[in-house]
Amino acid sequence: MINIALPKGRLGEKVYSLLSRVGFNCKEFTPDSRKLIFKDDKGEVNYFWVKPSDVSVYVELGAADVGVAGKDIIDEYTPDIYELADLDMGKCTMCIAARADFNDDVSAPLRVATKFVHTAEKYYAEMGRDIEIIKLNGSIELAPVLGISDVIVDIVETGTTLKENNLKVIGKISDISARFITNKAAFKFKNKEITAITEKLKEAVKVYD
Ligand code: PRP
Repeated sequence: MINIALPKGRLGEKVYSLLSRVGFNCKEFTPDSRKLIFKDDKGEVNYFWVKPSDVSVYVELGAADVGVAGKDIIDEYTPDIYELADLDMGKCTMCIAARADFNDDVSAPLRVATKFVHTAEKYYAEMGRDIEIIKLNGSIELAPVLGISDVIVDIVETGTTLKENNLKVIGKISDISARFITNKAAFKFKNKEITAITEKLKEAVKVYD
């Protein structure tokens, strides 16, 4: 039995649909159900339907053997896991954005609003720039608009949110995509099964493209 943590939402639904096509269909699975654990029809896998930012926690702690997490989350929380495959979906960019009239005053710490505290701290430490973090949990784009931060560090997918709030990208930190990850001990003890699922998923992703 393999336990798989899937990120609730569009990405998780896509990954589930790939897994169902390669043999792990689950009749009772519906994304909007309030149920959080689903067993596939053949009784080979359990699906856990979890908040995207929590997938790596379930995998690191071994409740899930494998899971799908964004590279943004992996970089931010640096969980002790292995990355098995880049699924080439859920693509976006970790960016720095600011108001169009932003001018960096290097004599003062830069006020950075973000959910990705570690990512922002690491980026600016490497640049040798002093910052002050404003930790927010969503709608990050509001912070520079309302003047509580100079810049934001956040993911940009289509760029619509920035555009609609009159912000512009002023720097890029990294490219993001969904990764298939595994618990380290599970990878040792269930290696055959996990390797087989990884290969099937990689093939399915190619076909999906
Ligand atoms: C994410 C991100 C941006 C937006 C980017 O927010 O934090 O706000 O998507 O997407 P876009 O470039 O396609 O506009 P999310 O929708 O996850 O909500 P949040 O603001 O609550 O974090």
